[in-house]
Amino acid sequence: MIHAFRAELLSVPDDPAHGGIPVHHPDGLMVVEDGLVVAFGAFADLGDRFADVPIEHFPGGMIVPGFVDAHIHYPQTDRIAAHGEQLLQWLDRHIFPEERRFADRAHADAVAAFFLDELLRNGTTSALVFATVHAASVDALFEAALERDMRIVSGKVLMDAGPETLRDTVDSGRVDSEALIRRWRGRGRLGYAVTPRFVLTSSDAQLAAAGALVAQNPDVLMHTHLAENHGEVAAVAERFPKAVDYLAVYDRFGLVTDRSVFAHGIHLDDRALARMAAAGSGIAFCPTSNLFLGSGLFDLVRADRYGVTVGLGSDVGAGTSFSAFATMGEAYKVGQLRGNSLDPFRALYLASTGGARLMGLEDRIGALKVGQEADFVVLDPAATPLLARRTAGASLAERLFALQMLGDDRAVAHCYLQGRRAHSRQDHA
Ligand code: GUN
Ligand code: ZN
Repeated sequence: MIHAFRAELLSVPDDPAHGGIPVHHPDGLMVVEDGLVVAFGAFADLGDRFADVPIEHFPGGMIVPGFVDAHIHYPQTDRIAAHGEQLLQWLDRHIFPEERRFADRAHADAVAAFFLDELLRNGTTSALVFATVHAASVDALFEAALERDMRIVSGKVLMDAGPETLRDTVDSGRVDSEALIRRWRGRGRLGYAVTPRFVLTSSDAQLAAAGALVAQNPDVLMHTHLAENHGEVAAVAERFPKAVDYLAVYDRFGLVTDRSVFAHGIHLDDRALARMAAAGSGIAFCPTSNLFLGSGLFDLVRADRYGVTVGLGSDVGAGTSFSAFATMGEAYKVGQLRGNSLDPFRALYLASTGGARLMGLEDRIGALKVGQEADFVVLDPAATPLLARRTAGASLAERLFALQMLGDDRAVAHCYLQGRRAHSRQDHA
């Protein structure tokens, strides 16, 4: 099947921090065949060639790539906005009790369905997702993602040193992970990530087992947390007094590779950043979470200096919004507090291709390049009275920035997966 979409088109395939130029067509045409982009350009250039193809026209709409959330926890959906505490106390008080509920498969199914629909309502078409320690929590998410045909990467959380009744063992963690990898390999658009929660919830033996899983399965990612909070960093240093830093602990167990995605990475010194860049590991910058938990201000410019790959994550439930606009807006504010103003095109890059690169999926998603999967969002830059006023007659950069500061799910008129409509705002349905 071949069909086309006419609207303003915007995509940022290459990092503006390294000279990448946004691709923009004020009146554009994107042609989709069998779920893949086959043409993306000016309507004036393509209209004749595709004159026989049915066209959906969105006057005033702006098509951008579906957002990629590089770090989020689906089981924490119902604990978003939990008051008080920083990381370690917040986990104990709010998060671990919530994650225990995922021993119940029916509960996991219900939350997974809501979670994926909420991503789509916000224009997020792909995500790297924490499940819980329960293997069936991954089955619940993958089954729901398969039904929706979403590109989701997830894994069972390894945490043999976690709190009682929310633990696995070295053996059960390995066996469950291997079974999940086997069960889900090659199905739909799903991928697996070996997911040790963080250093503090795994024994040395489990971290080593995670490293072995990564080495033995070249198609999986490694997904964990790193240097988010001062108390966490101090506890890791106390347990590993000989390690030069937090990253070195992961390194010692074979967990620092070009398939590794570390959430946060706020409190890292130069050595660690240089090592991450050399290894090809990436960081998911999660500004709403970092501000909510008081974790600190991620230094994007410093990560750039070392050439570390960065994407944006919501980190819901510590993150306070499913919206990539909120994430981009708060990333801008974190930059302001650090004396750097994040360029709006760069923010869009980080929320799309940046995340795709972290997940090793930049060939398939993130930029709506010819040959990529047609996962995209039709934005409404006049979604609210204030947005309409602020974007009227404004330049592209101004409109994009206004969306990042003021936008939310209301600015997502439609969300498409492989050229198929997966969500429409209620008044557009
Ligand atoms: N570090 C270990 N577990 C978690 C978690 O669930 N959320 C966040 N933000 N950091 C963590
Ligand atoms: Zn997290």
